[in-house]
Amino acid sequence: MVKVFSGIRPSGKLHLGNYLGAIKNWIELQNSAQQSIFAVVDYHGITTPYDPKTYQQQIMDVVLDYLAAGIDPDPSADGPLLIRQSKVPQHTELAWLFNTITSIGWLDRLPTYKEQLEKTGVNNMALLDYPVLMAADILIYKSNLVPVGEDQLPHIDLTNEIAKRFNSLFGETLPVVKPHLAEGFRIMSLQDPTKKMSKTGDEGIALSDDPDTIRTKIKKAVTDSGKEVRYDEKEKPAISNLLTIYHLLSGKEIKTLEKKYDGQSYVEFKNDLAEVVVNFLKPFQEKRKKFEDNPDRVMEILTKSEEKARVLASSTLKEIKERMGLE
Ligand code: TYM
Repeated sequence: MVKVFSGIRPSGKLHLGNYLGAIKNWIELQNSAQQSIFAVVDYHGITTPYDPKTYQQQIMDVVLDYLAAGIDPDPSADGPLLIRQSKVPQHTELAWLFNTITSIGWLDRLPTYKEQLEKTGVNNMALLDYPVLMAADILIYKSNLVPVGEDQLPHIDLTNEIAKRFNSLFGETLPVVKPHLAEGFRIMSLQDPTKKMSKTGDEGIALSDDPDTIRTKIKKAVTDSGKEVRYDEKEKPAISNLLTIYHLLSGKEIKTLEKKYDGQSYVEFKNDLAEVVVNFLKPFQEKRKKFEDNPDRVMEILTKSEEKARVLASSTLKEIKERMGLE
């Protein structure tokens, strides 16, 4: 039985990396899996500095992005669920239990921890513990398939370490978890193709960017030396990244695109790419507006999904507590 879980932190506007690396796959999986749960991981989002005054809005922005992208929750039947992590407190309760079997040495060597530490200068317990909560997010529903981008793979490994240790200490209870990588598992920054696309500045294209912003950002995107539009990650990392985005949004094969731009300049290629992005995001933005204008419907989807998620989560938590001698 395939059980899917994935989440995104509400720490800024979602960008094409989030869409191509994660959400695009969620949409493909949501109908074939027996269970799928997609979360706005608001407890993860507060492990680094944030503004409490705008946080609710940021959470709702991600919810709207999910819905506009095509996540199609159906909490009344057996369909996908769309939840806010903090509304299902079993996640954090399980994280505490997992803390008792997680070595600190598994956590402080993780690249994501070191990266955030360097970026924010904030070193709190929650930042170190972040992947344990992520393991709990996944395992509280006994999920076994997690569609994510490449940067999350160490966290999936850790999830499996925790499950393995739990099973060996308390008896076979938790499943093996597999990551599910999309073709766009690593979309790079438009300003620096050695860095992944992130939620800030000109580095990325937000799903909510208007056409002129998109055109300007793509015009300003760095390119490589030479003038050939050719896919070559080593020699031409910037153009290869733009070709990947073009391919994934248009459905046209990279080889076909290379042929199309043979003899043409970067400028023509970038102009066309800008239009591909604009056209791709237009229906997304229209759909988002419809949901935005219907907050009652959105809230109903969330509260019904969360109610159902709490039932599923309580059942796993009960089993785990029994195994651990807590009940
Ligand atoms: P977050 O919020 O950093 O990113 C959300 C998802 O987007 C993917 N992603 C990318 N994919 C390709 N190229 C990029 N440039 C790019 N940037 C981001 C990420 O790989 C991720 O899939 N720890 C998670 C959130 C989380 C989670 C979970 C995920 C919490 N609990 C349980 C799965 C299951 C995170 O910080 O993602």
